[in-house]
Amino acid sequence: MPARTCLSIILAAGEGTRMKSTRPKVLHEIAGLPMIAHVAAAATAADGSRLALVVGHGASEVRQAAEKFAPGAEVFVQEKQLGTAHAVLAARAAIERGHDDILVMFGDTPLLEADDLSSARRKLAEGADVAVMGFRTPSPAGYGRLIEEDGRLVAIREDKDASEAEKGIGFCNGGLMAISGEHALSLVDRIGNANAKGEYYLTDVVAIAARAGLRVVATEAGAESALGINTRAELAEAEAIWQRRRRHEAMLSGVTLVAPETVHFSHDTEIAADAIVEPNVWFGRGVRIAAGAMIRAFSHIEGATIAAGAEVGPFARLRPGADLGEKSKVGNFVEIKKATIEKGGKVNHLAYVGDARVGAGANIGAGTITCNYDGYGKFFTDIGARAFVGSNSSLVAPISIGDGAYIASGSVITEDVPEDALAFGRARQRTLPGKGKELRALREASAAAAGK
Ligand code: UD1
Ligand code: CA
Repeated sequence: MPARTCLSIILAAGEGTRMKSTRPKVLHEIAGLPMIAHVAAAATAADGSRLALVVGHGASEVRQAAEKFAPGAEVFVQEKQLGTAHAVLAARAAIERGHDDILVMFGDTPLLEADDLSSARRKLAEGADVAVMGFRTPSPAGYGRLIEEDGRLVAIREDKDASEAEKGIGFCNGGLMAISGEHALSLVDRIGNANAKGEYYLTDVVAIAARAGLRVVATEAGAESALGINTRAELAEAEAIWQRRRRHEAMLSGVTLVAPETVHFSHDTEIAADAIVEPNVWFGRGVRIAAGAMIRAFSHIEGATIAAGAEVGPFARLRPGADLGEKSKVGNFVEIKKATIEKGGKVNHLAYVGDARVGAGANIGAGTITCNYDGYGKFFTDIGARAFVGSNSSLVAPISIGDGAYIASGSVITEDVPEDALAFGRARQRTLPGKGKELRALREASAAAAGK
């Protein structure tokens, strides 16, 4: 049997007033990725189908974002937000191209999973004309209620239009609808706006299709998949659910999370089996961690690559471009930015290494700073293999320290150091015998005089 073709339409034109934000609602992020991108990813994962986005409020911002997260998507503008059915019709041109299945979903239900979409499509493949993703919740307020008669779905009643009895129904519209391509346009075209909000409700498809004798069914998804985000509190709730799902996945794939509830992942974090993550670690975007790496407590990591057996933290900050080689070590209160620490290199305490290479086996002493910025440009520091940089050194870039070179602690290094050289960049110590005692006597005498 040839695979069924599918068009996924994501509605994202609404204003999202309850977010109290200048940013369009669907661009608010979960795990560092806009909500709508999560929805698009689920649609793509479900079958790589054609994707249409309907935008309106903040259209140019959403369109711009979409170029990144869904470059193949066709974008339609709904000029006036007259309801979800009206929004679907904004994508009429795409629907008219003809598809076996039309999936309509909302840009503000970011926890939808590819499986949920597949279940709805499976119903169409089995002969249904309309399939609605339902979910059960003890607090259904705000959601459309699924009205069933003799076990058949006959209507969806929006909260504002529901009778008291209907408000008691806990089986709700999760916001995902699959409609057979054959009937989609004629059904949605028949929807009117005689309701409490005076809007064209997509949910009316159900009653229209049922009355026309078409087969309408509901699937049942977990309440988490259907969580609709209308406020920042719900956004945080969705973030928490997403993080819980991701941590669970990480642990099942062989990652040790000592206190999972305190570890924050980004949507794109890659972490291999046998990595260990201690409590209170934040992964921002673009982090890749190889097998057996150890991330100690309270580290903040973003845009970094960490090779097998490397050790990070506690209290380390890895910024974009940090590239830690095998068995390298970056310890407490160290910041690494756009720098490579080659195999076995160590930066163990209180250092800043930016725009630099630290060669294999090199050791960077406590308090060392690569002075990479002169207020105008950024400059590179190259530290050779096995070099030893004494504590509290300032390496003023651009500068190069050769393999095996030795830098005396407290040095300010402004000239290149050749390999195997020993460099001092500080004043020579002077020691004055007896002067300490003399100084103390002077101080004590003046303190006594002041005390009278
Ligand atoms: C909608 C459903 C409700 C369901 C709930 C699930 C309708 C009429 N109601 O209610 O049954 O339980 O979602 O979360 O479908 N949008 C447009 N253009 C418009 C109006 C809305 O693009 O003219 C978009 C919004 O940007 C949003 C989505 O459609 O992404 C849903 O709109 P929203 O106003 O949030 O609907 P709900 O009241 O949550
Ligand atoms: Ca909503």
